[in-house]
Amino acid sequence: MQSVPASSGKRQRVGLGLLGCGTVGSGVVELLHAGATGLAQRVGASLELVRVLVRDAAKVRSDDCPRALLTTRPDEVLADPRVDVVIEVMGGEQEAFEYIVGALDAGKSVVSANKLLLARRGDVLLERAVAAGVDLAFEGAVGGGIPIVRTLREALVSDRVTALVGILNGTCNFVLSRMLDQGDSLMAAVAEAQRLGYAEADASIDLGGQDAAHKLCILARLAFGAAVREQQVHTEGIEGIEPIDHHVAERFGYRIKHLVIGRDHGDELELRTHPALVPARSVLANVSGVLNAALLEGAALGPCLVYGRGAGARPTAVSVVSDVVAVARDIVAGVAGLQTRGIRAAERPVRALGDVESRFYVRFTVRDEPGVMAVLASSLGRAGVSIEQLVQDGLTRGHGAPASVVMLTHRAREAAVRAALADLRSAPAMVEPPRLIRIEET
Ligand SMILES: NC(=O)c1ccc[n+]([C@@H]2O[C@H](COP(=O)([O-])OP(=O)(O)OC[C@H]3O[C@@H](n4cnc5c(N)ncnc54)[C@H](OP(=O)(O)O)[C@@H]3O)[C@@H](O)[C@H]2O)c1
Repeated sequence: MQSVPASSGKRQRVGLGLLGCGTVGSGVVELLHAGATGLAQRVGASLELVRVLVRDAAKVRSDDCPRALLTTRPDEVLADPRVDVVIEVMGGEQEAFEYIVGALDAGKSVVSANKLLLARRGDVLLERAVAAGVDLAFEGAVGGGIPIVRTLREALVSDRVTALVGILNGTCNFVLSRMLDQGDSLMAAVAEAQRLGYAEADASIDLGGQDAAHKLCILARLAFGAAVREQQVHTEGIEGIEPIDHHVAERFGYRIKHLVIGRDHGDELELRTHPALVPARSVLANVSGVLNAALLEGAALGPCLVYGRGAGARPTAVSVVSDVVAVARDIVAGVAGLQTRGIRAAERPVRALGDVESRFYVRFTVRDEPGVMAVLASSLGRAGVSIEQLVQDGLTRGHGAPASVVMLTHRAREAAVRAALADLRSAPAMVEPPRLIRIEET
């Protein structure tokens, strides 16, 4: 890799240790190799890959990753005095945690793309980094290649972020887009995502919303200064969405997206991730396939959109290597730890879901019998929930056959809507439990 001419007695090289050389790690190695000259100029020192930890050293890897650098022993990376920055792209929780702590305690800065680990134990890791006077950077952990972390941490540091609404799980977005555009069932769309390499063989953490919740925990720290545990984020996946929901949503002028929603109400935060109907003409409704987007709202700035490829080897490597450059620059300038010291987070109250107000899409599957509509409407009415629009489907199938009735409500407290639905579950005409999807007017 390109070295920088010795002129001012400044350090000439920054040594890198890579933990993991899979999808993201190979992208990192490729970018470091292809961009070596430009990166050296931007850092003011050459970036030198010194050691690479993998599980299986015999596996065939890209030519950019020489076999001589590979090791299966973590200490050969963490204790190597030539390594100044450790890049953790191996995933998992406990081992990655131990290796990062080991690196920080040894005075090495760390760059990580590990969203699960940062969501669950980011507070401890950030404290350790500050105590050691080094950096912990994590742009690659949220939104793949889109610069959402840096936007919140640097660009909007002068403003107060009041809201963050995003599409941050490419697998969910691809599946929902396929269901809408190609008419696929959920299972068929998931199989297609797996065939194209967009979804893991076990896609449950994506489809169940946990991956999006991890990302919200990380972003809430930067956007709202909140130390959030994943249990505080109301999390729902897309497993219950059926083709009929897409069709009816479209009839009403909406599309279904899996959203990450954070709002700062001053006294309380709203933190949730779930499928939602968004107006078909809104920006987020038009983020399709595996793309990601986050719509931020600054008190002074107003809206700000970050949009792009939210996963994959090269986009994620762009984020990881840009963190490496930032951290390496600080090392060269003798101010390691500068970026991380500015991140502050405290416990903040989170609004109970029942107290959150929004409009709702409610789909009932009922037997087509006289008086059914009156039962539905009066139960919602008793709970103080008023109906704004209504469609019914399947009534031509004949008396007693199942029919779908979909209502859009006016704004209501979620607790009120849920009370009405609980009441209706035991109604004699109810064929299956009502399906509720929130509406987000983004
Ligand atoms: N893939 C994406 O698009 C993406 C996007 C954003 C963030 N991320 C995050 O980036 C991280 C890596 O994801 P990935 O998709 O690159 O994973 P991956 O393809 O499974 O690669 C993992 C790499 O780490 C190595 N490894 C795993 N556990 C190890 C252990 N205990 N000891 C030594 N080496 C170990 C593996 O070694 P072998 O090669 O020998 O098996 C492999 O090289 C994860 O935290 C993920 O959440 C991924």
